[in-house]
Amino acid sequence: MSFIDEINPVNALIVGASQGIGLGFVKKLLQDDRIAKVYATSRQPELASDLIALAAEHSERLICLAMDITDESQIVEAVQKIRAQVDKLHLVVNCVGLLHEDTLQPEKSLRQINSENLLRYFQINSVGAVLLAKHLLPLFRHGERSVFATISAKLGSIGDNQLGGWYGYRASKAALNMLMRTAAIEYKRSCPKALIVTLHPGTTDTRLSRPFQVNVPAEQLFSVERTATQLLAVIEQLQEGDSGQFFSWNGSRLPW
Ligand SMILES: NC(=O)c1ccc[n+]([C@@H]2O[C@H](COP(=O)([O-])OP(=O)(O)OC[C@H]3O[C@@H](n4cnc5c(N)ncnc54)[C@H](OP(=O)(O)O)[C@@H]3O)[C@@H](O)[C@H]2O)c1
Repeated sequence: MSFIDEINPVNALIVGASQGIGLGFVKKLLQDDRIAKVYATSRQPELASDLIALAAEHSERLICLAMDITDESQIVEAVQKIRAQVDKLHLVVNCVGLLHEDTLQPEKSLRQINSENLLRYFQINSVGAVLLAKHLLPLFRHGERSVFATISAKLGSIGDNQLGGWYGYRASKAALNMLMRTAAIEYKRSCPKALIVTLHPGTTDTRLSRPFQVNVPAEQLFSVERTATQLLAVIEQLQEGDSGQFFSWNGSRLPW
């Protein structure tokens, strides 16, 4: 039986919910009667048109909050707003991630290494997640089973890196995996019912992957809906000993 079936009411938080995989999770959870409340964060809620439309339809269950993960005070503020309404979270999925923006593009060679861009990758892909672990901890300190998942990437696997390139993205996801494994060990002591995992979603048709989809065979390019369904299935099957692990979309374990 999934941990979600054991708990009533279930409170969920999706971080980075404006579009892509995060928005897919919000839609999926709103279709699921077992989920009481869905908190959804985005950098600019007033521009998150899909979330606004969903909130109009599900005003009792969907609560939209502002959060730029690079600003710790915004994380604190959003967590305070959640704590004013509920004292427990059971499912958190951090879907924030950066591969390209404006002039920042994944590096093909050492010639393109730029410290500012590297730091931007780390700030969004690694640091934000551990700040979430820091501030969400009180909401996991309860006796019910719960999961804090962060979307990582197979490209962050050091053991699996055969192709090279994409230095900043790869390294920031490897750092994310280490930060979340370390947080999992600390959570085991302070909130033993909470599992922390990182997940590889598979190549998914979103803004992030769009410029790099040309060589991806159609059957290996997942829709957002498919990815959200697959990752939720992995999350629901997690067992106590799985905390601190790195899973692929099909439930298999990935090498560090
Ligand atoms: N798509 C894939 O093929 C693929 C493969 C492997 C791993 N992943 C990982 O999956 C996760 C989700 O990516 P996606 O494909 O859904 O990409 P996406 O559509 O570009 O979504 C990324 C999300 O991150 C948010 N975000 C970016 N910077 C942020 C910040 N500073 N603070 C708060 N939110 C921020 C974006 O918000 P805005 O709307 O405000 O920009 C957006 O909601 C990422 O971690 C990505 O690395 C994706």
